[in-house]
Amino acid sequence: MGCKRFACAVCALVMVLASLPFFGCSSSAPEQKPSISVGVAIYNGDDTFISNMMQSLTEIATKYEQDTGIRVYVNLTDAQENQTNQNKQIDRFVSMNYDVLCVNLVDRTDASYTIDRAMDADIPVVFFNREPVQEDLQKWDRVYYVGTDPAENGRLEGQIVVDAYRADPARFDKNGDGIVQYIIIEGEIRHQDAMIRTEVSVQTLKDAGIELEKLDGGIASWVRSQAAALSDQYFEKYGDQIELIICNNDDMALGVIDTVERRGLSFNNIVGIDGTPAGLAAVEQGKMLGTVVIDYAAQAKLIFDLASALAVDGDPGAVTTIGADRTVRAPMYVVKADFIP
Ligand code: GAL
Repeated sequence: MGCKRFACAVCALVMVLASLPFFGCSSSAPEQKPSISVGVAIYNGDDTFISNMMQSLTEIATKYEQDTGIRVYVNLTDAQENQTNQNKQIDRFVSMNYDVLCVNLVDRTDASYTIDRAMDADIPVVFFNREPVQEDLQKWDRVYYVGTDPAENGRLEGQIVVDAYRADPARFDKNGDGIVQYIIIEGEIRHQDAMIRTEVSVQTLKDAGIELEKLDGGIASWVRSQAAALSDQYFEKYGDQIELIICNNDDMALGVIDTVERRGLSFNNIVGIDGTPAGLAAVEQGKMLGTVVIDYAAQAKLIFDLASALAVDGDPGAVTTIGADRTVRAPMYVVKADFIP
């Protein structure tokens, strides 16, 4: 929904690019570009976290226009989870000679199509949120990735549970067996964040000396309704045995809360990641233990700073620190329910 509203805002921003003065600009063009064109390709406009981030990106672009006097044309496309659609969208941006591409890949292992087209046309690329493999990122020195460190996401998520456990172990041990029976609800199957978040959050609990037993787990692809359906099956099957539900993101944690409420249960040993507005509200209302806030506005700012520097031929290293692995890591922090110290 957010993204559709955003897409309309973008439509208003986007002009017929072919008719812009900077297209096919001649040698008499002024040194400072009067405008820049940014092609943004997202994997799925229905994804809450991505649509929030895109909303921030447009606001940042507008502020940049006001601050610099450089006009920014942002064109946002939604691949609707289809890499072939996204490749066509990339082709279009390249054929219209956009200044820079910002790409949220559908399939993170399929970055080479975009990189090869961009290299041929000498258009820099900022990938974000879905991290290409190193081999692809190292193909060209005008390719970057902006995202958070998934291991740190998982560590912080695990630490929320550790803090809650230390404050009140009994909350996680309804059956008094000294072991926390847990369920894990994961994002997409081949998404690096999902795999690493799962592994590291669970490991963080183990490292803190908490005894664990996995009751069950499944994939809900970041989607609230899928997590609601999956957790409904788990509550049906395991009932009171469930002592903790770890979710790879907030939307899925909210799906679990939907089920908890629909079933009239009093269960809030649920954790998430993202810090979406709805996720933060659930933490504040004590419906979940906490969330790891991936500051989407800060991430959008990093993406835009990098993209605009590249588009105006600036030095991207001057706007942010770029690792040898060609990645830029966005900040994150934890928000816990107020009953956890
Ligand atoms: C993750 C985020 C998820 C989902 C996913 C899409 O970083 O936590 O909510 O947006 O990216 O790639």
